Amino acid sequence: MKPGEYETMFRVEDHHWWYRALRRVVFGQLRRFLPDCPAGPILDVGCGTAANLLRLNRLRPAVGLDLSAEALRLAKRRGGVSLVRGNALELPFHDEAFAAVVSTSVLYHRWVPDVGQALAEFDRVLLPGGLVVIDLPAFDSLYGAHDEAVMTARRFRAGEVRRLVEEQGWRVLRMRYWNSWLFPAAVVMRRLSRGQREVGDLEESVPSQGATNALMDRWMAAEWQMIQRIPLPFGVSINCVAQKRRV
Ligand SMILES: C[S@@+](CC[C@H](N)C(=O)[O-])C[C@H]1O[C@@H](n2cnc3c(N)ncnc32)[C@H](O)[C@@H]1O
Repeated sequence: MKPGEYETMFRVEDHHWWYRALRRVVFGQLRRFLPDCPAGPILDVGCGTAANLLRLNRLRPAVGLDLSAEALRLAKRRGGVSLVRGNALELPFHDEAFAAVVSTSVLYHRWVPDVGQALAEFDRVLLPGGLVVIDLPAFDSLYGAHDEAVMTARRFRAGEVRRLVEEQGWRVLRMRYWNSWLFPAAVVMRRLSRGQREVGDLEESVPSQGATNALMDRWMAAEWQMIQRIPLPFGVSINCVAQKRRV
């Protein structure tokens, strides 16, 4: 990611409505599906500045991996987290070392030239019956200034994610677009933001503190309640939960 983005992420990720919404989705899935998985630790691939890792560690022993020294420097400040510098495409762990792999907002990145290779690595380090939770930005039409700042190489559609996951032999347990109610506003704002840093982006332009942040937080919680029961065919993000087959 571009310089400065890690500092911003570290500063806002505990309270910003978007990060809180991401955790609501990811931890909701883990609470539901992890009990049915083998015992063992969790790997957070592309852990960034570790707000998620800290919380994963409360579920099971967790290890965070990231390619960026800057991300790991900030993550270390949180204390009590296990961190490794490495590449998603060549994980420095032995086979079947983890019960679950979580990777949020990583496979979209320019530093992941081959998504299939990264998923094959997830598969290698997972125990049979292990869980994969991935979260990705959706729809190329939403590409905007924020994608430039966070070095987006690609945004995904549900069908493509399903194909990539099934190529690993995994069973898809859950696939959901989310951040869907804001989708129309996001399309307009991101179109405007292309090439114009000042117009900004939806997540950045909505204040990350105070009453607006609290309102957005409640909005996202209500949306997720609905989307769990009634999937929508669009959203700013996409979440997929899959399971490696038991042998
Ligand atoms: C947008 S941040 C997401 C951080 C965190 N997972 C979250 O959801 O808040 C993307 C992270 O992926 C890391 N990353 C990108 N490509 C990677 C790769 N090939 N191997 C390991 N980490 C990578 C970046 O350094 C960055 O910390």
